[in-house]
Amino acid sequence: MEQWGLIFRQSVDSTNAVLKTMADAPHGTVLCSRVQTGGRGRLGRAFCSPEGGLYVSVLLKRPEPLEQLLHLTPMAAVAVRRAIWDVCAVDTQIKWINDLVKDGRKLCGILTEVAPQGGVILGIGINCNTKEFPQELKNTAGSLHTFCGAVDRDALLQGLILRLKELDRELFSGKREWMEEYAAHCITLGKEVQLLKAGEMRRAFATGLDENGGLLVRLPDGREETITMGEVSVRGLYGYTE
Ligand code: BTN
Repeated sequence: MEQWGLIFRQSVDSTNAVLKTMADAPHGTVLCSRVQTGGRGRLGRAFCSPEGGLYVSVLLKRPEPLEQLLHLTPMAAVAVRRAIWDVCAVDTQIKWINDLVKDGRKLCGILTEVAPQGGVILGIGINCNTKEFPQELKNTAGSLHTFCGAVDRDALLQGLILRLKELDRELFSGKREWMEEYAAHCITLGKEVQLLKAGEMRRAFATGLDENGGLLVRLPDGREETITMGEVSVRGLYGYTE
């Protein structure tokens, strides 16, 4: 099977940002850091990245135009979910679009960005043995070790690379099966949700997914919409209960 190049760092600001600067990096370059000082999340947010987590970015120099790669982000959530199951035997759920959660706590976030080298960079942050979270995350963040004991991060990284290679091979041939698995584990479906986009908040009901992982919602006036970006809060999760 094709060899992917692995680069380790002790500390970087953001593995996604550093990988973007590696102009000659080939397809399958994996950059892993023990700590990030400026970890980045979706929607311009920070991603808390202390010692104890696994912070990884992978360059997928896919030749297809970006509009044909929309399903890559939800498939990445399935790949990480599979790897966590393989290595830690922890059964996680997916909060649209790509948070992995267990018992109402976020264990993993994924940030997909356009790669200057061509294709995309998949950035994956997993709370493995993280002991302390800052005050603002105390009620929402969780760490894998509380479900399975101390996590062997090297083993999880190897398991993750295997599943990401599988994703890369099956990106189109396996799309239907992977998206069915996504839907089967997506806790957002069948729930009341809050949609937050450009400062505007709306309530809706999540009814399903389109073939690329777009979230189908029904608004209170009966209109249907497909959501492809922005924040979607799920009633009953992360303190949204009213
Ligand atoms: C999110 O939850 O909003 C996405 C978080 C993505 C975090 C990962 S950690 C590795 C990579 N480098 C970053 O700066 N971000 C991603």
